[in-house]
Amino acid sequence: MTPSSDKATLSFSDGAPSVELPIYKGSVGPDVIDIRKLYAQTGKFTYDPGFLSTASCNSAITYIDGDKGELLYRGYPIEQIAVHCDYLETCYLILYGELPDAAQKAAFTARITQHTMVHEQMQFFLRGFRRDAHPMAVLTGLVGAMSAFYPDSINVNDPHQRDISAIRLIAKMPTLVAMAYKYNAGQPYMYPQNKLSYAANYMRMMFATPCDDYVPNPVIERALDRIFILHADHEQNASTSTVRLCASSGTNPFAAIAAGVACLWGPAHGGANEACLNMLDEIQAQGGVASIGKFIEQVKDKNSSVRLMGFGHRVYKNYDPRAKLMRETCHEVLDALGLHDDPLFKLAMTLEKIALEDDYFIQRKLYPNVDFYSGIVQKAIGIPVSLFTANFALARTVGWIAQLNEMLTDPEYKIGRPRQLFTGAARRDVKPMAQRG
Ligand code: ACO
Repeated sequence: MTPSSDKATLSFSDGAPSVELPIYKGSVGPDVIDIRKLYAQTGKFTYDPGFLSTASCNSAITYIDGDKGELLYRGYPIEQIAVHCDYLETCYLILYGELPDAAQKAAFTARITQHTMVHEQMQFFLRGFRRDAHPMAVLTGLVGAMSAFYPDSINVNDPHQRDISAIRLIAKMPTLVAMAYKYNAGQPYMYPQNKLSYAANYMRMMFATPCDDYVPNPVIERALDRIFILHADHEQNASTSTVRLCASSGTNPFAAIAAGVACLWGPAHGGANEACLNMLDEIQAQGGVASIGKFIEQVKDKNSSVRLMGFGHRVYKNYDPRAKLMRETCHEVLDALGLHDDPLFKLAMTLEKIALEDDYFIQRKLYPNVDFYSGIVQKAIGIPVSLFTANFALARTVGWIAQLNEMLTDPEYKIGRPRQLFTGAARRDVKPMAQRG
């Protein structure tokens, strides 16, 4: 953070003395006004529900320019990373700040693959869940339970333990998600196979059975790797802020990441990919392409709570650069699998076209977000809809852990403790029962 020579002056119409507030400059993006001493100086809080104008931390990991539709991981544009790097290189970049050279990449990949197995007893813990439990419910539990299975890496004040936890989380998430899926499907768990790529190993753990050889389809492997890259980090979104807030109490990384998983589950965030596919199924059931007009009318109706899932973003008000890349992958996968004529995919493409030309969406700057296309890709690949958000969690784990580590090494970090504007009853006395009502 670089202090600026500019200052902000806050004046009050009630005659209270004005206060001067420092301004800091980042490397790119908006400056921030430092209001930390505001309460001490004025007795007033600021009010910003939803963090519309509030920077909650300083960070050097991911930069987004929502108006330009730009996303940078450690300074590198997502368009270049998606084409020139694989997911594990991206993880290295996000975690350690620089892209790996060949030797660093080989060493990092070896470290990750050495940690892909989970404690054998985890399967007994998993068995405690109902078979039909939602994968995100199961994953929240499994990730939280890692603090019980790996107690030797939960001291957040030890950088070595934090690094081991990061490696364990990145390595084991695919194994855990695949186990949750296999348990639900009633199929035997498939142990990881370390000679495969990160994405191919995950596909094998999901789709293979011990009865047959499994040969990963390279188009699908690339598509999955791209989904992981595009979801790896996204600065201070709801789940990342949840992880930071949770970890700010000094709790262990597994507990904090479990909180992130729980937050991601919501349909306004990572749950949008699942909600989007459910929406497409519903439109399909009501008549398919012919009923899109009626559905769009419902979305525009102020009295209905229906939203076009997979459209809109809090930060991107031009387009979501991840959506552009995911759209490319979507067409590649539909071509490779010969699914362009599948009624559900035709419906999605028609809906996309209609919404992009509709004034309601244009005026509000609502464009398809990454989840609109990632849901379609995952459905085409054969991933069950209820597992979409778990895949998002798998990919975002590196971002969560990198942000958590960054926070813990920031000398400015304090336990997160927002304040409030209280609107409830002022102090009053408890009346005896007979006098109440
Ligand atoms: N469909 C219809 N109308 C919408 C949509 C949508 N998907 N999104 C926003 N709007 C409308 C709102 O009704 C509002 O209209 P108004 O100005 O007439 O009242 C206006 O656009 C602004 O919407 P807000 O809710 O204020 O925007 P906000 O930034 O708070 O919300 C969000 C962003 C939550 C992503 C929203 O666009 C949404 O619910 N989208 C659908 C869910 C989704 O796809 N989420 C995934 C996000 S990406 C991710 O997590 C990876």
